[in-house]
Amino acid sequence: MTGKIRGISGPTVHVDLKGLKLFERVYVGRDMLTGEVVRLQEDGAVVQVYESTSGLGVGEPVKGAGMPLTVRLGPGIISGMFDGLQRPLERLRDVMGPFIISGREIYAIDYTAKWLFSPSKKIGDDIAPGEIIGFVQERQFKHFITARNTTSKKLSWIADGEITLGDSFARFEDGEEIMGCFEWPVRIPRPYRRKLPSSGALVTGQRSIDFLFPFARGGTAILPGGFGTGKTVLEQAIAKFADVDIVVYVGCGERGNEMAEMIEEFQTLKDPWSGKQLMERTILVVNTSNMPVAAREASIYTAVTMAEYYRDMGYHVLFLADSISRWAEALREISASLEEMPAEEGYPTYLASRLAGFLERAGVVETMSGAIGSLTMILSVSPPGGDFTEPVAQACLRTGGVFLMLDTSLAHRRHFPAINWFQSYSLYSKKTTLYYNDKVSPEWEKMQLRCREILQKEESLREIAEIIGIEGLQDADRLLMKVAGMVRTDFLSQNSFTEDAFSPPEKTFSIIKGILDFYDSELGKLKEKPSHVE
Ligand SMILES: Nc1ncnc2c1ncn2[C@@H]1O[C@H](COP(=O)(O)OP(=O)(O)OP(=O)(O)O)[C@@H](O)[C@H]1O
Ligand SMILES: [Mg+2]
Repeated sequence: MTGKIRGISGPTVHVDLKGLKLFERVYVGRDMLTGEVVRLQEDGAVVQVYESTSGLGVGEPVKGAGMPLTVRLGPGIISGMFDGLQRPLERLRDVMGPFIISGREIYAIDYTAKWLFSPSKKIGDDIAPGEIIGFVQERQFKHFITARNTTSKKLSWIADGEITLGDSFARFEDGEEIMGCFEWPVRIPRPYRRKLPSSGALVTGQRSIDFLFPFARGGTAILPGGFGTGKTVLEQAIAKFADVDIVVYVGCGERGNEMAEMIEEFQTLKDPWSGKQLMERTILVVNTSNMPVAAREASIYTAVTMAEYYRDMGYHVLFLADSISRWAEALREISASLEEMPAEEGYPTYLASRLAGFLERAGVVETMSGAIGSLTMILSVSPPGGDFTEPVAQACLRTGGVFLMLDTSLAHRRHFPAINWFQSYSLYSKKTTLYYNDKVSPEWEKMQLRCREILQKEESLREIAEIIGIEGLQDADRLLMKVAGMVRTDFLSQNSFTEDAFSPPEKTFSIIKGILDFYDSELGKLKEKPSHVE
């Protein structure tokens, strides 16, 4: 099915092609730029093009792909760096140099590379939909190959040993083949048997998070913070040290050089949990501010689909995006060029539901093969002017399970991570406390309560101290102020550029215990000598 371009306005292209479907992939122009149908009209369609449209002309050909925007899923994705349309950046560089040339398609999957397949099924076995038939070793992970049949069928042949992804891995009696890789539409969540309640803590190695605002596996966390409050540094620290199997990091509309530094660093650092190189468990999706805006909208879907694919194998996957505000801005730009009715601050009316639908892809699931996998999401939000009442922060607030408010005044005082301990919250506190009580110390919860209490009391004492001076306070109150200062500087502050960047739960616990033991012993001494100020 081919047609012609009738009009071009930025990345929005009007075409005269009939019979297209909403969200169908379209190849636009002589260079075959990738686009997606975003509106259907009686006499044609409106296509959102994900690559630069400069040089495109009216009358150039347009072709419908007959399928939606997809990603290729199969062995070889881990350690990969992709653009928002899942083109492998390293191979792109080899072919076209440092700048991406529009319209070139290079697949994320290398169909010629050889893999060693170890089958777990044999000829004659009945295979249910989604069942595992074997695995190939992808770095330190067993990459399970699953069947994608819709009804149970018998195997008539299965491979064993060396194989390429272009070959068939197995065949059913009716002739249907099982391939090692396949395409999946990015906007459709991958199937699973059922969703389970999020359970178990996700250890981040950041003391203020693990201790005060814990993350749960399969949960969602939102990191809103004004300019320079440490969103990127915190997200990258979590990506480095989180106790998960696989990390998918999306640089969404932020600075390219930050991403470049991260890539360099990840190639030298080790994962503290497995001892392997960090890059060996990481997938990067890069759509920085200098890359096409429209592809930014698609990039988070491309990334989350890859994350779901590994979750389906029973792995714990962490998805991080920096920042979701840039994604929302891309959505606003697309919506404006379609002349849709704007809602608050020009964002489309469907912003909140789109975002909620996206966050719904997180969770712990029983996969089609019966394994348990999880997908945890952490999204940073950059509200303009640090105003948390703006639509993107508000939409995130409604759906996120952890809300870490990054505070400009803490950042100014160089207290990092600048997590405001009064305005942040975690809905997973109860569940995860059980985990830490059990794994680290039964005193975890008690210490947590005391720590919160000390910070709260300090706040009320500070107002009094400002009026009467710290000397005017009672000894016990002065001691509390001192201890609260220790909690803030020695415990909650954590410099991401020193050895202290990663704090395992045992270290977190021993620091806070040290401070609270000191508090108790000083309180004991105060009780022994009667106070002179009454
Ligand atoms: N955990 C940390 N430890 C030490 N320094 C930090 C930490 N977090 C942030 N910083 C300091 O703050 C600076 C700004 O941090 P970062 O770039 O992460 O902010 P941001 O919120 O992402 O900013 P922007 O809104 O511009 O993207 C860093 O360059 C670093 O100097
Ligand atoms: Mg940043």
